[in-house]
Amino acid sequence: MADKSGFITLLRYLGMILPGDFIKTFFYLNFIAKPRKFIRLCLDSFYRMDHIYEVLSEFNNTYKGNFSVLEFGVADGYAFTKKLYATHYLKMSERVIVHGFDTFDGMPDTDAQEDQDMVANDGWVTGQFKASYTNLDNYCSQRYKNYKLHQGYFEDTLTQEYLDTLKDSMPILIWIDCDYYTSTKSIFEKLIPFIPTGCVIYFDEYEFNFGSTFTGEARAVKEINEGKFGPGIELILDHTLSLNSRRVYRFINSNIENQFQRYKPLNTKDELRLRTNDSPLP
Ligand SMILES: C[S@@+](CC[C@H](N)C(=O)[O-])C[C@H]1O[C@@H](n2cnc3c(N)ncnc32)[C@H](O)[C@@H]1O
Repeated sequence: MADKSGFITLLRYLGMILPGDFIKTFFYLNFIAKPRKFIRLCLDSFYRMDHIYEVLSEFNNTYKGNFSVLEFGVADGYAFTKKLYATHYLKMSERVIVHGFDTFDGMPDTDAQEDQDMVANDGWVTGQFKASYTNLDNYCSQRYKNYKLHQGYFEDTLTQEYLDTLKDSMPILIWIDCDYYTSTKSIFEKLIPFIPTGCVIYFDEYEFNFGSTFTGEARAVKEINEGKFGPGIELILDHTLSLNSRRVYRFINSNIENQFQRYKPLNTKDELRLRTNDSPLP
């Protein structure tokens, strides 16, 4: 059946009016396809700074207590200091501590299949993103108080002593930017028992190898949901925060006792929605 949508009808008329295949093609590519894509992307494109502010505001307005934000893979602190500024801008510096984890030596050595670029064998190289812990610490200490940098491999810096602090300062945003599957795995192996339900988990390199679940952070997401990191846990894609990406998830942890506490409960015994009118309008 012929497509009678307004868009295709418009194209059909343009095809009749415009002379020759070259002009038709040039006009279509530059004056229809490009602006259409531009508008679509403007509205729907994921921009990773947005959800920092959205998540902080959500927890600030809804839940009691103090919180932690954790970033794994800090390098020179490009995203780390933006998170710190967000806590300052939203007047949450007293409630939120931002933790950064990195060796600061750059990407570790790995020959694991799960870490390799499958498209052109052009993956990250050992030492890439090497940065200075001291420079970053100096920069942050002159501007902020609510942060802590943890230098070393994730499996060494996620100590029991540190993990216990997350009971009083529950994680609300965990930012995974260490690229490799093996590094991501080493984080979750330690951290899972301390991640409360509702915590936002962001994967910066989810689209590595087009998001193939053979490799990278996407593999870790799949394995968590298959139960390979233990029972009773799940990562649910948050469509509102992810927009056109698959990067932002909510953690579900049925094993943990610690829960967020609302300022005001959502449900009360005497709640009832009263009838208004019978049209679709409220
Ligand atoms: C892509 S960079 C981080 C970029 C950073 N988030 C930014 O905003 O610019 C990845 C970082 O992960 C760190 N990294 C990777 N695997 C690690 C591991 N197992 N332990 C500690 N650091 C690791 C590397 O040192 C590197 O600095």
